[in-house]
Amino acid sequence: MARRWGLISFLVVVVCLVGWKVELASGELGVNWGTISSDPLPNNIVVQMLLDNKFVKVKLFDANSDVISSMKGTNLEVMVAITNDMLATMATSTDAAAAWVKQNVTAYLGNGGVNIKYVAVGNEPFLNGYNGKYVDATLPALKNIQAALAAAGLVDTVKAVVPCNADILGSQPLPSQQTFRSDLAPLMLQIVAALDSTKSPFVVNLYPFLSLVLTTNFPIDFAFFTGYNTPIIDGTRVYSNVFDASYDGLVSALSSAGYPNMLVSVGEIGWPTDGANYANISLAQKFNQQLVNHLESGVGTPLRPGKLEAYVFSLLDENAKSTLPGNFERHWGVFNFDGSVKYPLDLTGGVSGAQTQLIGSKNVPYFPNQWCVVNPNKDLSTLPANIEYACAHADCTPLYAGGSCSGLTLVQNASYAFNTYYQFNSQLQSSCDFTGLAQVVTTDPSVGTCKFVIGLKPATGSTIAPPGAPSSANSGASLQADLRMLVIFVAVVVVNSCLLLE
Ligand SMILES: *[C@@H]1O[C@H](CO)[C@@H](O)[C@H](O)[C@H]1NC(C)=O
Ligand SMILES: *[C@@H]1O[C@H](CO)[C@@H](O)[C@H](O)[C@H]1NC(C)=O
Ligand SMILES: *[C@@H]1O[C@H](CO)[C@@H](O)[C@H](O)[C@H]1NC(C)=O
Repeated sequence: MARRWGLISFLVVVVCLVGWKVELASGELGVNWGTISSDPLPNNIVVQMLLDNKFVKVKLFDANSDVISSMKGTNLEVMVAITNDMLATMATSTDAAAAWVKQNVTAYLGNGGVNIKYVAVGNEPFLNGYNGKYVDATLPALKNIQAALAAAGLVDTVKAVVPCNADILGSQPLPSQQTFRSDLAPLMLQIVAALDSTKSPFVVNLYPFLSLVLTTNFPIDFAFFTGYNTPIIDGTRVYSNVFDASYDGLVSALSSAGYPNMLVSVGEIGWPTDGANYANISLAQKFNQQLVNHLESGVGTPLRPGKLEAYVFSLLDENAKSTLPGNFERHWGVFNFDGSVKYPLDLTGGVSGAQTQLIGSKNVPYFPNQWCVVNPNKDLSTLPANIEYACAHADCTPLYAGGSCSGLTLVQNASYAFNTYYQFNSQLQSSCDFTGLAQVVTTDPSVGTCKFVIGLKPATGSTIAPPGAPSSANSGASLQADLRMLVIFVAVVVVNSCLLLE
């Protein structure tokens, strides 16, 4: 009798474990959460969006305590980051590395805490554009953080990674010939060995958009996943999109370094919607939908069949990022800066059967419906100087060539500039003056696709849900976990009662 119950509870456990695996496999999609914004969306609203849209993994660019704390009590797998300017300190001091891990990892772990899984050691530290500034510090920083994680007993649960730009690779024409960039090759061997010692993935950022925009004569179809009619033929393998070709180029470089099975995680991938040619909503929607479909299809790349792990770049537009890479840099969000939906996107990649759509932010603390525009009854001869001033202190990226507001008249683009400045300055009356040329209006001055935004009130901090008080949306995952525990619990109770009865 007991044995039969034992068998049944064993089967129940097996069923539960299988259920668990399937659940894990059905949503590996991550997303980057950057916060370089004049008026960032309150953290609790962002977390609600992450949960509503069933993102599983979240990648941060620093270790802001308010941001990390806002994910307490959720199951989100979080990557926290050491910024590049801290690498030298981490490299030279084991104490500093230990203190970083203690304050920015260990302090959040545990029941009701934050599910921190990765520490990013720098962000693209070997980027060509940095001229080698962080090259020497990265490996010793990685090793010190690994040692600090190990000393904290976290060697199996929290992995240190080094998110790299794809420019760590050389420029071989075929993916199978790819190696690490020659100036970095000896260092990359050591980085990869250090990652392998803790079974950590290699994190790489891939940007088909940049390939398209920065490479003359780059075939647009090769940036997408719909099939390019002159694919790269690499032996028996056929590459019809640059994503697969770059990904397998990395896999080949890892193989020739002696690590053919190292896990690869795509740390950033996406498409911007403004600020350059090709940066528009229809192409972003096309790319991101095809990307998600590709990731979720399980087809994988020629060298790595199966599901692929990736973090979409990015969750929200960030209107205060540096425009050094280009004006598009402030427009990578799948959502607008305020968390509103830019375009339809099914993040399940269609595999769930039921088409799901993005869910926008809720309870957004907008300022009142007030915009700052040009008063047309004034002498407008000084408009250009005023535009220049406003744009130097706010975000005018949509006004320039390729942008969503590039077709405006001089007066309209002055209004755009005045309004972005006014919203950046929390709708202060004094910020809508411009030597008397400006006035506040209450009807939306937006022109076609050119949106004149309303800013957000700063977060009070007190709106963040207390730890251990999960919001309704995260109950989906935890409810399933609870049900599994309940089934196991019931099975165990039944088995025990049977044993007692015998
Ligand atoms: C933890 O991270 C924050 C934010 O990135 C940083 O300012 C702080 O110095 C870190 N703590 C330690 C002990 O290094
Ligand atoms: C997006 O950009 C492409 C390439 O420049 C262009 O062909 C297309 O018309 C644009 N779509 C929209 C809606 O602006
Ligand atoms: C503003 O409008 C004029 C059209 O009169 C245009 O030439 C100019 O490039 C626009 N953009 C900016 C940023 O001034």
